[in-house]
Amino acid sequence: MSRSYRTIILKKSVPSGQTVSPDHFETRILPIPKIVEGEALLRPLAFSVDPCQRTLLSGATDTMLPPYVVGRPMFGSAVARVIETRTPDLTIGSLVQGWFDWADYVVTRPSKDDMGPTPIDPQIEKPSYALNVYGITGLTAYFGMIEVAQVQRGETVVISSAAGSTGSIASQIAKIRGAKVIGLTSTQAKREVLTGQLGLDYALDYRAEDFADQLRSIAPNGPDLYFDAVGGQLSQTIMQQMRRPARVVEVGQISTYADDEKAWTVNITHIHMNGLRFEGYQPLLFIDQWPKAVQELQEWVNSGAIQPLETEMIGLESLPRALEALFEGQNTGKMVVLAEGDEQLMH
Ligand SMILES: NC(=O)c1ccc[n+]([C@@H]2O[C@H](COP(=O)([O-])OP(=O)(O)OC[C@H]3O[C@@H](n4cnc5c(N)ncnc54)[C@H](OP(=O)(O)O)[C@@H]3O)[C@@H](O)[C@H]2O)c1
Repeated sequence: MSRSYRTIILKKSVPSGQTVSPDHFETRILPIPKIVEGEALLRPLAFSVDPCQRTLLSGATDTMLPPYVVGRPMFGSAVARVIETRTPDLTIGSLVQGWFDWADYVVTRPSKDDMGPTPIDPQIEKPSYALNVYGITGLTAYFGMIEVAQVQRGETVVISSAAGSTGSIASQIAKIRGAKVIGLTSTQAKREVLTGQLGLDYALDYRAEDFADQLRSIAPNGPDLYFDAVGGQLSQTIMQQMRRPARVVEVGQISTYADDEKAWTVNITHIHMNGLRFEGYQPLLFIDQWPKAVQELQEWVNSGAIQPLETEMIGLESLPRALEALFEGQNTGKMVVLAEGDEQLMH
């Protein structure tokens, strides 16, 4: 009798304007395929849940990643263990990272592209950190703050989604560099994490009616730097208060991802009127410098200067709910889903 495994497939696309929910997905049971020469069988241990996945659900094709297809498995960035191998490039028991199906088991081949299985440092403190502080969100924070923004001591920095994966690392890097950091997030509990555990100077509720007044009273001359992960109306409110030579470093626009019409649309009125510098970027532009960045991030984690935060959900079938919860702001730090039975391996 062949062994079976579960995979999460996209049951129906998520039209523009609609909130993603578990109803859009279903679990399918399939027999575990036998690997052939050149392949390896992986057991995913931790799945990353990412805002960009929403943009792939409505069939957008102008993204860096292939869109999700109705009736086909969902996929995303994940850490997996090699459990069977017929290739010398993927050794049994080793950990790899790549873009894998949302499934209990995955067949893979060595690949040199960005999505293929890449070995992970076996000394890593926690494998999910490869999706977090040493992964794409940590690198986005690192290069955004250090190379693009070139944050300076004494500057006033506003960071949106500051309690999220990218924002929490960016906030801590700005503190390391001596900036005054104002983090924005939705809940009191997350604001307490920002000012308590992470030592930010201020944490504001960006949904508060008097948010603009609160920001003005903390930064009467306007922020020097806005690290923008959210876009939409919030970014307009902040940019309205900024003054030349202030700058915006843009790493994402999560508030627009469910709206195909407005996705990635930026109103440049305040950029123009206030003479701001607006720089968008994504960390692949710095791929040659990733090893050096990971080394510095590791030093900061080891010294306690950076605390990587994670919200863990357990079990493959939690993935649809985890994606919904990400857009509800239910995560503090990186949203990860751990395979059931493997939670112990992750700590
Ligand atoms: N360029 C790249 O390669 C790259 C890589 C990683 C991430 N990013 C971008 O960076 C941003 C953050 O990504 P992440 O992975 O670190 O996610 P995250 O911040 O860990 O999680 C998403 C958070 O966004 C906030 N949020 C959700 N909907 C919102 C809305 N409508 N308005 C304002 N805030 C909202 C919620 O926090 P609150 O509770 O605070 O609302 C939620 O917890 C995204 O825009 C993402 O696309 C870009």
